[in-house]
Amino acid sequence: MNHQGTRSPTHGPESEPGRHRRETPGQHGHAGLPALAANAAQRLADRLTPAVGARAAVSWVHAGAVLAWAAGTGLFDAGIAPAATAAGTLRALDRLAAAHPALAGFADPAVCALREQPIGNADTADITALWSAHPLEDPDHRPHGYLLGNAYQALSAEARRERALAQTPRFVTSLLLDLAFDPAAEEFGIRGLRMVDPSCGTGHILVETLIRAWTWRPRGRSNHAPRGIEAALEAVHGVDLDPYAALLARLRLTVMASAIGRADGGHRGGPRFLPAAAAVNVADADALLDAGEPLLQRGRYHVVVGNPPYITPKDPAVRAAVRAAWPQVCHGKYALSLPFHQLSTALLVPGGWCAQLTANSFMKREFGRPFVEQVLARQDLQWVVDTSGAYLPGHGTPTVILVHRHREPVGDRVTTVRGINGEPSLPADPSQGQVWRAIVEQVDTLLAHRRLAAALERANLAAPQGPCADGQNGSGRGGRSPPARRAPFPHRPRTGARRHAARVRCPQAGGPTVYPAARRLPRPPTIGSTSCSRSSSPPPPPRPALPLLRPPLPGRRPSRCARTSSR
Ligand SMILES: C[S@@+](CC[C@H](N)C(=O)[O-])C[C@H]1O[C@@H](n2cnc3c(N)ncnc32)[C@H](O)[C@@H]1O
Repeated sequence: MNHQGTRSPTHGPESEPGRHRRETPGQHGHAGLPALAANAAQRLADRLTPAVGARAAVSWVHAGAVLAWAAGTGLFDAGIAPAATAAGTLRALDRLAAAHPALAGFADPAVCALREQPIGNADTADITALWSAHPLEDPDHRPHGYLLGNAYQALSAEARRERALAQTPRFVTSLLLDLAFDPAAEEFGIRGLRMVDPSCGTGHILVETLIRAWTWRPRGRSNHAPRGIEAALEAVHGVDLDPYAALLARLRLTVMASAIGRADGGHRGGPRFLPAAAAVNVADADALLDAGEPLLQRGRYHVVVGNPPYITPKDPAVRAAVRAAWPQVCHGKYALSLPFHQLSTALLVPGGWCAQLTANSFMKREFGRPFVEQVLARQDLQWVVDTSGAYLPGHGTPTVILVHRHREPVGDRVTTVRGINGEPSLPADPSQGQVWRAIVEQVDTLLAHRRLAAALERANLAAPQGPCADGQNGSGRGGRSPPARRAPFPHRPRTGARRHAARVRCPQAGGPTVYPAARRLPRPPTIGSTSCSRSSSPPPPPRPALPLLRPPLPGRRPSRCARTSSR
């Protein structure tokens, strides 16, 4: 693991600049940071830039945030706190670096650019005053460090532009974990379970996974022995190209593990801060090119959860190197989302689960054709969730959630949540946006029905009619007879339909829709208007208008933003 990496940025800007929507700092501020704090921090960094350069300016301003946040956790000694002088700030960072081996990067000039470019004491005082006026308070009074990560994204134009840093909102992470971590933990067992995020940024997904791994209990078993936070920490792994983002991820994991350990009465009755021997598994490396990085060992993980960069590498040398390393999916002006998808699969154990929030550009542009036809078609795709209409702070590119398992396709269903309308206005709380709520409700309902069906099946009772009538159980597959092998790619993701449907109110928008089995007709996938079925059989007949098997429940207001189907 490289805790000391000095890699320089290697990737180009967003591949779809025209698609940025609702991206301006508003009520939520830039990148999920309150607007006042984001603007004030940016102004301060801009003021320092002519004297010390943009990297060091960002580093100084963010170091002030790190020290204020660390002091606020109450976990560190009094010397780790905002200082009145530049020299005092460096001393405080030295102490932070010494608090745990995972934090050594705070003393490394290659990671913290501020060490090579001193600033004056007046500037230091301004930085301290900034974070005192805008404290980066975490939700639930727990030291997640969300806003600390968001502050780095808001401050560093370089990280956003060159490496596509866009923090994954907590509510998105929660859904990704529901869709991949939970079924993997059910199936493989929580003991020894390994999860990785190969583009972990400042660690939003890693911190949430740590909490999920620590709190996870097998469904229905109340007598499950509690696990120590260190065991949960062993499950969590991350890699990022940006050494400072990776350092922040390590800091946040160290702090969260320490806070939980302390609340638990000390780590196994021992020290109240995370013991030095407890490894924090986050490396800075190029996940697509550093094949020798131990945390990127192939076939090692039960779960991959990620939000890869969506950019196209601009540097011709990097573009060629990635193309050579991932020839199957790097066609034309490819986006990095595709080699990351293939990497994620390669990291999984057989049958392992992967959930990603990724760009949907591969569904609409030619470069995605070989991926859809040759890669996706051979994977056990579980979910395609259209999130392009949802408001995700900091994410301007239209997105989709893909969930697959590392095995040949099993059964004949892919569950899709299809967008209908975009967000009618900017939601005050993005996690409560109408589109996002509609998506979560559809997914939750379907998962609940599948769990019920599986439980009834175990009890030898008839499975209920409803969204789970597709024969899938809680782990995504069901039925007593062996599941049928699925046709190579019988169902195309239908997210492209949203833009049209967004203008025409869909009369069937509402609760989960389930189509009668007899009417589930295979249909070749399309990219744009081109058919790209792998099958040599004649094209299937056009799909008839399908009735709802179960109309929305009376009295329940149907959602107009998304609908689910297993087709
Ligand atoms: C969309 S952000 C992920 C954000 C992260 N989930 C979080 O919430 O902090 C994409 C991340 O990919 C990283 N990245 C870009 N190219 C990479 C590469 N070749 N290897 C590893 N990480 C890379 C960027 O540094 C950035 O942090």
